[in-house]
Amino acid sequence: MYGREAIAKIARALPFVERVYANIRFSILRPKLLSVMDLLLTDEGRILDVGCGFGLFAAYFGQTQPARRILGVDPDARRIELARSVSNGLGLANEFLVGDVRDAEVQGPFDAVYVLDVMHHIPADSQRAVLERLRDLLVTGGTLIVKDITTEPRFGLLFTELLDRVMVGMDEPLKYRHHRDWGAMLSELGFKVRMVRVPDVLPYPHVVIAATKL
Ligand SMILES: C[S@@+](CC[C@H](N)C(=O)[O-])C[C@H]1O[C@@H](n2cnc3c(N)ncnc32)[C@H](O)[C@@H]1O
Repeated sequence: MYGREAIAKIARALPFVERVYANIRFSILRPKLLSVMDLLLTDEGRILDVGCGFGLFAAYFGQTQPARRILGVDPDARRIELARSVSNGLGLANEFLVGDVRDAEVQGPFDAVYVLDVMHHIPADSQRAVLERLRDLLVTGGTLIVKDITTEPRFGLLFTELLDRVMVGMDEPLKYRHHRDWGAMLSELGFKVRMVRVPDVLPYPHVVIAATKL
């Protein structure tokens, strides 16, 4: 199951407030954007969802390919509890763990890892170490997918940052990077990198980076 039908099942499994959030989130990461990432992900095997939040995308990618075994990690215990309940309610084999990607007790190897709109929430001085850790958790030939926001055009970045600030407040760090900077960092860490900018009707400057561990 994929697209609107899969999204509707996830939304129905959530309490009201989170259902509203999920509908907003899926209107930002629309089915076309999800399809790009779905195609990049392995159809089966172990997959790590970094900063999984309410587990919306673990529930989505688990429905499109039920042989995937997704482990979601997020420091927010309440989100993890909801992620578990949604995936269990949909009969998916997903698992969830409360933890910070920098030191969570996660056992590799994984066939793929994805990080959806999370890298810019990691403090600037930890971002490289996080990518290094994710590389070490992957099998050789495994794929790391980073979906993030690039820094151009400037208006798109400001639009995104304003909405992110509404969600996280003024105290949390937000460190966006240009997609070429992420690409250079990933190449230095031993990945073959491909990336695509994904247009949107809203001004979000989405970029999807697919990095294969060499
Ligand atoms: C914008 S939300 C994205 C959630 C989910 N990936 C999605 O696309 O809906 C960012 C998430 O990153 C998580 N996060 C922030 N810092 C993290 C860290 N150091 N390790 C793991 N997750 C983190 C937050 O708790 C939050 O759930």
